[in-house]
Amino acid sequence: MLTNIGRRAGESRHPGILIIGGAGYIGSHMVLALQAHGMTPIVLDNLSTGHRDAVINAECIIGDMSDKNLLREIFTKYNISAVMHFASFIEVAESVKNPAKYYHNNVANLFPLLDVMAECNIKQFIFSSSAAVYGEPQYNPVNEKHPLAPINPYGRTKRMVEEIITDYAASNGMQYAILRYFNAAGSDPKGRVGERHPHESHLIPLVLATARGERAHITVYGNDYATPDGACVRDYVHVTDLCDAHLLALQALQEGKQQLIYNLGNGQGFSVMQVIAAARSITGCNIPVNLAERRAGDPAILVADASLIKQELNWRPQFGNLHTIIEHAWGFSTNYVIPA
Ligand SMILES: NC(=O)c1ccc[n+]([C@@H]2O[C@H](COP(=O)([O-])OP(=O)(O)OC[C@H]3O[C@@H](n4cnc5c(N)ncnc54)[C@H](O)[C@@H]3O)[C@@H](O)[C@H]2O)c1
Repeated sequence: MLTNIGRRAGESRHPGILIIGGAGYIGSHMVLALQAHGMTPIVLDNLSTGHRDAVINAECIIGDMSDKNLLREIFTKYNISAVMHFASFIEVAESVKNPAKYYHNNVANLFPLLDVMAECNIKQFIFSSSAAVYGEPQYNPVNEKHPLAPINPYGRTKRMVEEIITDYAASNGMQYAILRYFNAAGSDPKGRVGERHPHESHLIPLVLATARGERAHITVYGNDYATPDGACVRDYVHVTDLCDAHLLALQALQEGKQQLIYNLGNGQGFSVMQVIAAARSITGCNIPVNLAERRAGDPAILVADASLIKQELNWRPQFGNLHTIIEHAWGFSTNYVIPA
């Protein structure tokens, strides 16, 4: 029930944008981006991997996206006009060990949400998909026409959700944007929020944790790939640039676009060793490396062709520079103090 929740956002009847997963890494940045553009984000999060204190100056409802009654109350009370869905489990390795956890949360929990959206006539939906839908790249940079052939349960949940969204939209007129992120990285340039996954699996935060002495070394899986320095090459896209793309997608839906599917990436690859070298120069720390065997399913190179959203929505990423991405992540991780 929502009775104990303040009426700040709902009172004005200004349309709210529901951010499901808004207490997580990318969702908490989205809250700030919407506020900076005069919109009213409302967060729904079950805190399974998110943090209450990552939601700054916005309504934060603690609950699960599968709770239909809660969704009905939120949609009505806050005059919700659009939903942004960030609420997935995200660890590839865990999805291989425990696929049920991923299919339940990432796929099954979508149905109550889409059903209640249809019931309440909420038409605009933005979904966080992933480059994992492409699987092993057949060419680089990868554009949206690349075959969808995910190679792990996490990627398959994302492809399934994309298909479900497409089918719902065809039957009920829902407008949608599916945004396929490559490697989200960096932090709010003002350091207000950042990446705090409870079990971190992403390279940059692991490298920075090593710099802070919280880990003995950073493991590099394979140094004999067909890349300039033998290490895997990935595309790191700044979280603030991701949020800008969401704002543009939302605006396009508001202007009447029906269906949008875009890659979100830098278009430029950086190797694991380049990331470590940049982190060493930014942090001034040694960052010991432990070389290990290649991991199954790790492509040598995975880089986005994000030209479509640049052409169609005029997306202009501001923070493509690897140095800036790591500097912002380092700034957050060294200055952040958990509120008392
Ligand atoms: N981080 C990346 O590099 C990356 C790359 C590609 C795609 N994505 C996608 O972006 C989205 C956000 O990723 P993130 O890194 O911010 O993850 P995150 O774990 O930090 O955030 C997810 C949030 O969703 C919440 N949540 C999960 N299940 C929920 C449920 N059933 N009901 C309500 N809340 C729930 C969690 O508590 C958490 O706050 C995910 O869908 C992820 O698959 C992320």
